[in-house]
Amino acid sequence: MGYIAIYYLMIMDNPFLKYSKNNDYVIGDLKKLSSSYIPDTFPHRENQINSIAKILGSIINGGIASNILLYGKSGSGKTSSIIHVTNMLSEAVSGKLNSIYINCQIYDSQYSILVYIINSINVGEPQIPALGLPMDRIYFELIRRLKKSNKYTIIILDEIDKLIQKSGSDALYVNLKIVADSNSSIIGITNEASFINRLDARVQSRLNQESVIFPPYNAIELKDILNFRIDGVIKRGFIDDSAINLCAALGAQEHGDARKSIDLLRIAIDSVLREQKNKVTADDVFHARDKFEMNILKESIKTLPIHSKMVLLSVSLTQETDTELTVTGEIYENYKNISLELGFQPLTMRRISDLLNDLEDLGLISTNTRSLGRYGRTKFIKVMGSIENIKSYIMEDSEFSNFQGSKIVKQTKLRTNFDEYFDYKE
Ligand SMILES: Nc1ncnc2c1ncn2[C@@H]1O[C@H](COP(=O)(O)OP(=O)(O)OP(=O)(O)O)[C@@H](O)[C@H]1O
Ligand SMILES: [Mg+2]
Repeated sequence: MGYIAIYYLMIMDNPFLKYSKNNDYVIGDLKKLSSSYIPDTFPHRENQINSIAKILGSIINGGIASNILLYGKSGSGKTSSIIHVTNMLSEAVSGKLNSIYINCQIYDSQYSILVYIINSINVGEPQIPALGLPMDRIYFELIRRLKKSNKYTIIILDEIDKLIQKSGSDALYVNLKIVADSNSSIIGITNEASFINRLDARVQSRLNQESVIFPPYNAIELKDILNFRIDGVIKRGFIDDSAINLCAALGAQEHGDARKSIDLLRIAIDSVLREQKNKVTADDVFHARDKFEMNILKESIKTLPIHSKMVLLSVSLTQETDTELTVTGEIYENYKNISLELGFQPLTMRRISDLLNDLEDLGLISTNTRSLGRYGRTKFIKVMGSIENIKSYIMEDSEFSNFQGSKIVKQTKLRTNFDEYFDYKE
């Protein structure tokens, strides 16, 4: 680099410095407020942490620990608590522990999970390839490396319900059998309480030797959690109590979700720091919530496949031209019109029903099935959130750039027919 360039670097204001320097309110590492940070204190999870520690405690004396299943709604602290507990256990046994964390949303087949476990056990041997080995070689290799490692192995299968959904009970049975024959345990984590009933009996009894429940947090507990999380990071007084209370209340409303409360507070703090204001208020939290919800909505629409976008657009436009309560037939007609206008071959009605189910799973639409006397059962569909926003996010896709919407039809015929059977004010 030449002298002139160095000189310019020295005199030029670094635009990032103002975010960190220009305030006295940040006293610690802001990363501690990110959702991936594992804190070392978990208020209101003492019972769960103690129960897990008690079960895993037998490892310390050379024994075998039972397999455990952790249940609880999203944001109830399952993943972070178990990582915290296994970190402490590893410390207590001076590193003589293989703690292998696997998210089954990413590794969702028996093969990919077994390969991942093999490659996570460090016995000074080369990694095995992710594809192409026969199953018996994989089992052999896993058992051999588990024995050779001479450490206790804990396999954490997070979002284990996704594995069963994708690959069935058998995928788990093999894992459990291998584990039963070696110095290891499995910890399954799920937020779907009914998941255990879908397992076959032999898997159920092996996996669910012990279970620990993570109940939803209430607003008072969330307030404590938030206060713990900002302690030593943000100066007292910079965040108004009303802002903390609101973050706690909004998290409590959302099935007691600590992640939501922490995210809202972090986004609010971040924007107040950027705007160089001197206090985080409840208003900032409301703004954070709007921003947060808009981002989630935008992101989930942006990543939809093209036909799902067309279906969602059809729901929005049909709902807009007609009424709050739109039925599948109307949506399909308008989807076909949109699809032809954009130059795509429309999919069948059956495929569209599947896509509507997917949109419902993503929380983009809600459906309500009602009986309409001799018209049978009918599904009413509406979009979640503002139609205007949803439309504008779909239109960001260049495939929609020439969309006019001139062929959208309003179906009143059907509507008049079930007037006499159905009072459609909710
Ligand atoms: N008691 C607590 N004290 C401090 N932070 C907590 C507590 N409980 C949860 N958190 C934090 O809330 C966020 C969500 O927790 P976590 O990821 O463990 O939830 P989860 O139950 O695994 O949720 P999901 O089912 O969605 O995976 C994390 O950032 C975590 O650190
Ligand atoms: Mg989790």
